[in-house]
Amino acid sequence: MTAETTSASSGLLDAPSTVTRDRAPILWSALERARSVGALGDGPIAHHVGHAAAYAWCVADHGDDPGGAVLDLGSGAGLPGLVLAHLWPERKLVLMDSARRRAELLLAAVEACGLGDRVEVVCARAEEAAHDPRWRAAFGVVVGRSFGAPAVVAECSAGFLAPGGLLVVSDPPVAAPERWPADAMSELGLVVHRSMASPVHLQVLRSVTPCPARFPRRNGVPAKRPLWPSRAGRLPASR
Ligand SMILES: C[S@@+](CC[C@H](N)C(=O)[O-])C[C@H]1O[C@@H](n2cnc3c(N)ncnc32)[C@H](O)[C@@H]1O
Repeated sequence: MTAETTSASSGLLDAPSTVTRDRAPILWSALERARSVGALGDGPIAHHVGHAAAYAWCVADHGDDPGGAVLDLGSGAGLPGLVLAHLWPERKLVLMDSARRRAELLLAAVEACGLGDRVEVVCARAEEAAHDPRWRAAFGVVVGRSFGAPAVVAECSAGFLAPGGLLVVSDPPVAAPERWPADAMSELGLVVHRSMASPVHLQVLRSVTPCPARFPRRNGVPAKRPLWPSRAGRLPASR
């Protein structure tokens, strides 16, 4: 798969051909509905769909996709998970969000798109669900878009990953390796694996040892007392 519809001038992506408005009208209607209730941020829906599709290019890029189920952590309006469900028609996905209204919207979208046989919506806090034996170490790939600071997304995700599993998260456009400190991440069983700089910046972490049972900590603790500070990676004030 290639990033066929990058608009170079804006640095933004358009929806790839398999999930354009014409080809996936129900998906688009679901995203428009999500926007109408404030569940989806600004910008053309095509760019949100294109950004979400970049996760699929990133996972497929290096032949190191371990396969298995996919978790979209903090799925919100269904990004990137709903788009990935269209691009990966053979794969099982879980779209998880702690906000009940978001989960209800997600469920309606999954049903409308006819994805209910392989896409499950789970309304839960990651900090709790990651200790549930049903979900612990159950995913080959975990994706997160705008879920939180690096330490929060890493701690909330690590317990979901099967050995060798990949965590793919959005990162600011300017690379800042100090956002992902090796020593702190090793506590979670994660290493920095690779990154994709273009068309969007995605960081890929890999599970190399099982996440210790004490992680993630209680609800809200990963954000209140992050395992490492997120002082780096912000855009310069002039931009
Ligand atoms: C900023 S939104 C991003 C939504 C979507 N990924 C996107 O990019 O449009 C973050 C989402 O994560 C959910 N969330 C935040 N903390 C969570 C947690 N600890 N467990 C599960 N979901 C959480 C919120 O309810 C919200 O829908």
